[in-house]
Amino acid sequence: MGNKWYLIGEDRARSWNPDVNLYSTEDFVHWHFEGKIIKNHETHPELGKSRMIERPKLMYNAKTKKFVVWCHWEARDYSASEAGVFESDNVAGPYTCVWTGRPLGTKSRDCNIFVDNDGEAYFISTTDENTNLGLFQLSPDYHNAVEKTVLCKGQRREAPAIAHIGDTYYMISSACTGWDPNQAKLATSKNIKEGWSPLENIGDRIAYDTQASSILKVEGTEGTIYVYVGDRWMDPNLPQSKIIMLPIEWEDGKMVLNYYDSWQIDMKRGVWRVKK
Ligand code: GAL
Repeated sequence: MGNKWYLIGEDRARSWNPDVNLYSTEDFVHWHFEGKIIKNHETHPELGKSRMIERPKLMYNAKTKKFVVWCHWEARDYSASEAGVFESDNVAGPYTCVWTGRPLGTKSRDCNIFVDNDGEAYFISTTDENTNLGLFQLSPDYHNAVEKTVLCKGQRREAPAIAHIGDTYYMISSACTGWDPNQAKLATSKNIKEGWSPLENIGDRIAYDTQASSILKVEGTEGTIYVYVGDRWMDPNLPQSKIIMLPIEWEDGKMVLNYYDSWQIDMKRGVWRVKK
């Protein structure tokens, strides 16, 4: 929003019952802790009791002018397979619970959100005991799933991060191997609901020890950069898990992901370079 970027994520200080923290930055290097936006035992009576939150994702709804969080709303043994929705007038909260449950009655686990250029929003999650991906189109207020499309049928994918670049949708996803990293795969389509290409490898064998979280678009005066954001879980333990950002590159019109230990981004100009 403006020059500010917001990040929310799991505060795993108490490993199994994350609160949700909010951070802001203007350059992806210096981060400011804005506070806890969802708290165990406070935001919802079952949070920290029968339920925990994983993969919280934040959207701004330009129509309602509200901030909406969708997340994985789960029991300790992953048997609940539900989603949770929270909303606030302000990015830093307080957030109140809108709804929790299975979207359109579907068992739903690992998840993400995607907001298209036209403001149409989707919740996308691993459904049916980690078998398929469910693409759930949301109502205009982003409160409910209104339509379900099955993607990657039977392919056991999770952690799907989608971007709409030019006339193409790109989705980077992972296999279901818990906290261990695996080969990330890319699929593309001209239509978000159908016609997705077969999965192809992207990045190295273990996605540089990450699992896809988001693909960000940084538009500057000289160029546009797409940034891959991945979760590096268990580094070395759950509370110390990290977020890794890498510049997305293009080779012969194909999206590729290379590893750089250190790289520098100029947010204003929209250019980046490897840092020596
Ligand atoms: C990961 C997933 C996490 C969490 C974990 C549990 O693959 O991305 O959100 O569910 O599995 O093992």
